Amino acid sequence: MRIAMIGTGYVGLVSGVCFSDFGHDVICVDRDPAKIARLDAGEVPIFEPGLDDLMNRNVAGGRLSFTTDLKKAVAGAEAVFIAVGTPTRRGDGHADLTYVMDAATEIAQALTGYAVIVTKSTVPVGTNRKVAEAVRAGAPDAEFDVASNPEFLREGAAIDDFMRPDRVVVGVESDRAAQVMSDIYRPLYLRDFPIMTTDLESAEMIKYAANAFLATKITFINEVAALCERVGADVKAVARGMGLDGRIGNKFLHAGPGYGGSCFPKDTAALARIGQDHATPMRITETVMQVNESIKGRMVEKLRDLCDGSFNRKTVVVLGVTFKPNTDDMREAPSLTIVPAMVGGGARVRVVDPEGLREGEALLPGVEWLDDPYEAARDADLIVLLTEWNEFRALDLKRLSEVMATPRMADLRNIYSRADAEAAGFTGYDAVGR
Ligand SMILES: NC(=O)c1ccc[n+]([C@@H]2O[C@H](COP(=O)([O-])OP(=O)(O)OC[C@H]3O[C@@H](n4cnc5c(N)ncnc54)[C@H](O)[C@@H]3O)[C@@H](O)[C@H]2O)c1
Repeated sequence: MRIAMIGTGYVGLVSGVCFSDFGHDVICVDRDPAKIARLDAGEVPIFEPGLDDLMNRNVAGGRLSFTTDLKKAVAGAEAVFIAVGTPTRRGDGHADLTYVMDAATEIAQALTGYAVIVTKSTVPVGTNRKVAEAVRAGAPDAEFDVASNPEFLREGAAIDDFMRPDRVVVGVESDRAAQVMSDIYRPLYLRDFPIMTTDLESAEMIKYAANAFLATKITFINEVAALCERVGADVKAVARGMGLDGRIGNKFLHAGPGYGGSCFPKDTAALARIGQDHATPMRITETVMQVNESIKGRMVEKLRDLCDGSFNRKTVVVLGVTFKPNTDDMREAPSLTIVPAMVGGGARVRVVDPEGLREGEALLPGVEWLDDPYEAARDADLIVLLTEWNEFRALDLKRLSEVMATPRMADLRNIYSRADAEAAGFTGYDAVGR
């Protein structure tokens, strides 16, 4: 198979690399020449565990290359994937389809023979038909089909998710397109991973419904956590007791500082918008969005309480600012609400994050970046565990407390316990829902 992958971000690059590892010939396109230059030099522009090795192996095998020239990539390709961003449109919460539609228009100019144009980006219901219209308008005689193939990979575990997916969802309208998609995913099919084929609209809807459901699950436990604090229950025990029920499951039941990231915030907003447009309000999703915002505010209040009611002149160490561990992605991270609230309140904030600096430096003005938690803790008044990178899971709490001015900890990922913290000399400790 010859595949063109348009957009080499978190999804496009991982998908392109993995398809080449399946044995397909893949050309990845991006309109950002700096990105392509780095990829050509064998460098992965994002942090994703394992991606550099897999990428370089497939480049060396002659199955994977990079270009800014969309025409060159699309010419002769049997499948053209659109994996460009669909951020929230300013002002109204809709998914911004500018990049997708631009790509469709460019593809129309570049098709040389039959190809399936596959949308991997997360797009509102109806977008694949719009892509088809745009391509037909630009190339009335071109032979093509469209397919919807939403992506479910998680940053930080993206390769494993792509290679061993819970399912692959494919929306198509013709047998010919279904055949091309099944050839592309054949290595997964042979290993019994479920490939679900459906219509375009259902495939588009599955992605939003799945993400909104996961956002709901997290927000549900976060709201339960707030109540646990009031009634003296421990949300970790509650989540475990709930999660052992097979109908509920134990995933996405970890209470924390609210969800963020490149997908949940924008996808819940887009689903809510789609509902409004069709006079079918997604009231649960709308409430989830509001509750999630309030949870971030609740975290700020927790931190303020640990600073005796004011951030002014306090030195606060924040461990982890990316939206989750094992990624450098800062999009909509809770840190982007919580850290500025502290800086704005007069705190000196020191940040330690294994991969956050490159993206985070511009997004978190006025903070100091350090590499070592123990050095950062020197003379500090509060430590905030915000993103649970592995290196923050087994800290020497005694060593930390000994160098702090006032040893206090906000454990917003429930990694430690009050008993451990107090035994190590912390005089203040708060977590979420315990
Ligand atoms: N990031 C995730 O974890 C994730 C998971 C599942 C689905 N998705 C969805 O996948 C899509 C892509 O997300 P992402 O996080 O990879 O985005 P991203 O912003 O990291 O990457 C998008 C890339 O597309 C490039 N681009 C935009 N228009 C282009 C064009 N016309 N031609 C060539 N390149 C172009 C940009 O330069 C950028 O490098 C989104 O719709 C997102 O919702 C993301």
